[in-house]
Amino acid sequence: MPKPRVLATRPLFPAAQQILNASCEVDYWTQAERISKEELLRRVKDKEGLVCLLTERVNEELLRAAPKLRIAANVAVGFDNIDLAACTKRSVVATNTPGVLDETTADFAWTLMLAVARRLVEGDQLARSGTWKGWDLDQLVGADVWGKTLGVVGFGRIGRAVARRAAGFQMKVLYTDAIRAPLDIETGLKAEYQDLNTLLGESDFVSLHVPLLAETRGMFDVAKFSRMKPSAFLINTSRGPVVDEAALVHALESKKIAGAALDVYEDEPFIQAGLKRPNVVLAPHIASASVATRTKMAVIAAENVVALLKGNRPPNILNPEALKGI
Ligand code: DGY
Repeated sequence: MPKPRVLATRPLFPAAQQILNASCEVDYWTQAERISKEELLRRVKDKEGLVCLLTERVNEELLRAAPKLRIAANVAVGFDNIDLAACTKRSVVATNTPGVLDETTADFAWTLMLAVARRLVEGDQLARSGTWKGWDLDQLVGADVWGKTLGVVGFGRIGRAVARRAAGFQMKVLYTDAIRAPLDIETGLKAEYQDLNTLLGESDFVSLHVPLLAETRGMFDVAKFSRMKPSAFLINTSRGPVVDEAALVHALESKKIAGAALDVYEDEPFIQAGLKRPNVVLAPHIASASVATRTKMAVIAAENVVALLKGNRPPNILNPEALKGI
């Protein structure tokens, strides 16, 4: 019996390769540059499984080019690159990698928060420049993090992991979400539910943890920035298009907010000039990028593919409607 054929748009990690290779014949894209859309469409033609990244679009065009495809396994928890309705229509199962990246991503939201408040990037530049003249009283003075108010927008697994870390900094935690968390979670995390506008008006740090959906696209617009304190910072490790970048640039230019720290952008990998300011810390979408976490993400994607191709229900199925009879 021939093994099912799978395309992986990256070499993945050895642990994930082992899982895939044991049950599938895998075509790994190994070149340093990303797979082009044309190459992706060409290679996926005869494949039953696809392991893809958030930079690849699984849409009508791809599905049309892949008549044998049965599963698209995203190596990411976010899945806004996948047209779920189109997958379901063609009985293609889509999966993601929830759960394994929460703590690593929360660590990074905190990395950004501390870096922007304490002007770490400016300090690093000065220290390396050869122009540092030594300690000075008002040199690179920034904002305190400890004892301030943290506003968490989106109180899912990652938002909660970010909130949990605030206790060590003696912070007050506010959160908002479409669905209020159970009381025991609120109590355990000492997090207070607020509507978004109240949260924006009271928070010193606003950290975004919502998925990109029709309702969250452009959620942070001129009106939202005008609600924030002029001393407040925006932290975004969710998805770029949740923030209207033109409005953010305007808020920074007009000092409506004190600064921002971003890991994600509206039109990655493009980063607009207006964001390249000293009071903005910029990272290239690496919040989940620890070796351990990225390995786990790749392993989960591989396990999802193998489960489906063996006739089982993949653990992280996003569109169960696409599964008939499993
Ligand atoms: C995701 O998983 O959605 C992140 O953006 C990358 O880890």
